[in-house]
Amino acid sequence: MTERAKVAVLISGRGSNMTALIEASKAPDCPYAVVLVLSNKPEAEGLVLAAEAGIPTLAIDHKPFGADRERHECALDAALREAGAEYVALAGYMRVLTPYLVEAWAGRMINIHPSLLPKYPGLDTHRRAIEAGDKEAGCTAHLVTAGVDEGPVVDQAVVPVLPGDTPETLAARVLAAEHALYPRALAGLVAR
Ligand code: GRF
Repeated sequence: MTERAKVAVLISGRGSNMTALIEASKAPDCPYAVVLVLSNKPEAEGLVLAAEAGIPTLAIDHKPFGADRERHECALDAALREAGAEYVALAGYMRVLTPYLVEAWAGRMINIHPSLLPKYPGLDTHRRAIEAGDKEAGCTAHLVTAGVDEGPVVDQAVVPVLPGDTPETLAARVLAAEHALYPRALAGLVAR
């Protein structure tokens, strides 16, 4: 097969979507390979999981950079390029990006968000969906643009909101849908 697209995954925490991306990349016909998992938190559990999966990992802590977000992103960008990344997948990366990194990777940076965007950008999406009385929830894979959770939708998956759902039970149902959607959306993006 032709060479696979090189993807770096940015995380801040447990890395279950990252794991889904890595698992899917093991399929012989997967059009991408994960070449780096990069975290802004050295203690992120996902770094351990990635290393166990044999993927190169790196942490670039944002704290020493203080308020200078762009200088932190400059260090991230250098690491991404050093790894040969052609695409970047945000997977629970919990920092808002500045236009610096967003523009550097325009059209090649994707995010997974736990709501049916444009509904419920930002945090606490499941509680907001339940409180609104929504019958359906879901997740969205979208390209990253300067506005938070605003970029063009690549793909979405819908799940039901069930009677008696709590934010936790709904989150678990949506998360399972994320794990199926994200590898598919990323594969679609790199094959465009
Ligand atoms: C996921 O719900 C994702 O949609 C959101 O952050 C969460 C990350 O979870 N952006 P994980 O680290 O992938 O387990």
